[in-house]
Amino acid sequence: AEETLILVKPDGVARGLTGEILRRIEAKGYTINDLRMVTASRELLVAHYEEHEGKPFFEPLVEFMASGPVVAVRASGNRVIEGFRALAGATDPTAAAPGTIRGDLGRDWGLAVQQNLVHGSDSTLSAERELSLWFA
Ligand code: GTP
Ligand code: MG
Repeated sequence: AEETLILVKPDGVARGLTGEILRRIEAKGYTINDLRMVTASRELLVAHYEEHEGKPFFEPLVEFMASGPVVAVRASGNRVIEGFRALAGATDPTAAAPGTIRGDLGRDWGLAVQQNLVHGSDSTLSAERELSLWFA
């Protein structure tokens, strides 16, 4: 079946929302095939976010993502990439629809970085690339 990389970001782990987020993934019917808690190195994060290199939020994003442990999840299911992005909701947690992870559990904290609880791969190509980075 199709696979995706999901990250519970440092804000989600720090707020004790890992269980709630994993619950939603499983309740939707996706399978968790592997899972690991890790404080990511800068090199891993720069590779992970290579598409955003040069953007104004890149440095704060990498710093935030390295600030504490994240939970990396290998999840699978038919159309899981699209399905998890729908579960996660819009990037901006203030605007994200209620019913989504970001919409129900996230908000703007007035910080330099948009803390939005989760990451999900956005294509089959990025899923393959990101899974090989986080589950080398
Ligand atoms: P991910 O699943 O984390 O990749 O989120 P996304 O695909 O919804 O967003 P995108 O890949 O465009 O951006 C990656 C991350 O960078 C986002 O999750 C935010 O944390 C952050 N980000 C994106 N756009 C902005 C922005 O305009 N300003 C700020 N401060 N942060 C941003
Ligand atoms: Mg993205």
